[in-house]
Amino acid sequence: MSFIEWLHATGYATVIRESLIIYPYLQVIHIVALSFLAGSLTVVSLRVAGLGSRIPARDLIPTVMPLAWASLVVVVLTGTHMAVGFFEVFAVNDPMKIKLALLAVVLIYTARFHYRFNRELLLGSGDPVFTGRDKALAIGAIVIWTLIITMGKLLAYIQGKD
Ligand code: HEM
Repeated sequence: MSFIEWLHATGYATVIRESLIIYPYLQVIHIVALSFLAGSLTVVSLRVAGLGSRIPARDLIPTVMPLAWASLVVVVLTGTHMAVGFFEVFAVNDPMKIKLALLAVVLIYTARFHYRFNRELLLGSGDPVFTGRDKALAIGAIVIWTLIITMGKLLAYIQGKD
């Protein structure tokens, strides 16, 4: 028995799969949390790209980032539980693989950006200035979040569980 078959057959996965309420609630919480995650990081990216430049980045970004990181925890917990419930399906689902690869890329970017931003806040006096490269990467992050959401929806229709 492979690891995928073993995990799919566990009592834990079976309860998620056979319950009439667990999976739908996981999906609802997943969608709400991903809205906060992608939404809050899109606000940060738009500010970096120059939108709302009257709002000091040193005020906006530290206010929004905790919401983003907290939502990420909820998204990953609910997503992982849904995936475990139908592990034989989602472990080999191509849109899921693309979604998780894109998520890894955009989370590395977000962590590096947040680290650099905090360091500049500590060292600098004024509002951090964003370069052309910062703005291009910020727009790129918005494109990636859009692709992740698209893959999230498509994984139900392409090699999906239903
Ligand atoms: C560890 C990370 C994640 C895992 C394991 C995961 C897993 C899943 C699973 C299993 C589904 C249910 C598919 C279905 O039954 O229809 C799903 C749906 C979805 N996911 Fe994720 N997900 C993760 C992160 C994300 C992130 C970061 C986003 C977007 C920001 C996202 C967006 C979506 C969307 C839009 C859906 C479709 C919801 C629906 O309409 O039912 N997911 N995800």
